[in-house]
Amino acid sequence: MTLTATPLTPAIGAELSGIDFAKPISAAVGDALYEALIAHKVVFMRGQDVAPAAHMALAEALGKVDAPHPVYPAVEGFPSMVCLDTSDNNPPDTDVWHADLTFRAQPPFASILRAVHLPPSGGDTIWADMYAAVERMDPHLRAECEGLRAVHDMGNFRNAFTEGADGSAEKLSQAMAKLGCAVRPIIDISPVTGKPFLNVNEGFTTYVCGLSRRASDRLLQRLFALVEHPEIQVRFRWSPGAIAIWDNRVTQHYAVADYMPERRIMHRVTVIEDTRASAQTPPDTLAEAAA
Ligand code: SIN
Repeated sequence: MTLTATPLTPAIGAELSGIDFAKPISAAVGDALYEALIAHKVVFMRGQDVAPAAHMALAEALGKVDAPHPVYPAVEGFPSMVCLDTSDNNPPDTDVWHADLTFRAQPPFASILRAVHLPPSGGDTIWADMYAAVERMDPHLRAECEGLRAVHDMGNFRNAFTEGADGSAEKLSQAMAKLGCAVRPIIDISPVTGKPFLNVNEGFTTYVCGLSRRASDRLLQRLFALVEHPEIQVRFRWSPGAIAIWDNRVTQHYAVADYMPERRIMHRVTVIEDTRASAQTPPDTLAEAAA
């Protein structure tokens, strides 16, 4: 096996070749894939003939597979595999910059997305590099953010509990209690590289702790805007059988919703535990990371 990674931009993203993911994944392949993921933040493989069982095996090669998604439907027979089946009848809600499930106590470290059915054109996904977002921050803004933490909650998944005949405030309150929220540093440290990354996203980050509502909204808007620089993004044009794997800690993504009324079906598995990272001892403060 020779894995070759061809970078797609200087900042983020590489296309991989040399691996057939339909075959059993050896420890050496899993390690090589992980290294490429850490180096490029999102990696792509085209023309893979991968069934759901092989998709799960790929996730297991990276770490511990996540529990079933709290809102999205699952692929039949694979409770932890989300089916994102979108069209005019079921418009997507992933056309917002986000990292997956950051409101959870343990959000996924990696997500693996596979193209199952694609529209004739459109339906690309864009990823952005959150290390680069910090590097590009105005020093005053960065100083303002250091030490601050923000609340992540279920964001627009609220709609799943309030819409329709059975939607109600009571249902929403129960869901909020069950899914909970997380409080995370605005500038966090990767447990693998020890580098700082921006850890707020428009999908799920709702409030900066300790500020007034108005000041929190203003700060978050400035931070959300950092993601929008094309220089720190990569845009992937899907093809049949293509797979994307991203480091969900240090990237954000946006699914371009330009293909309606056509249908687009994607399968996604999230991996919560980065078993390889636990072997390392990361710096646990910004000062240590900067040293
Ligand atoms: C996601 O937001 O995880 C899905 C992205 C996509 O469908 O392109």
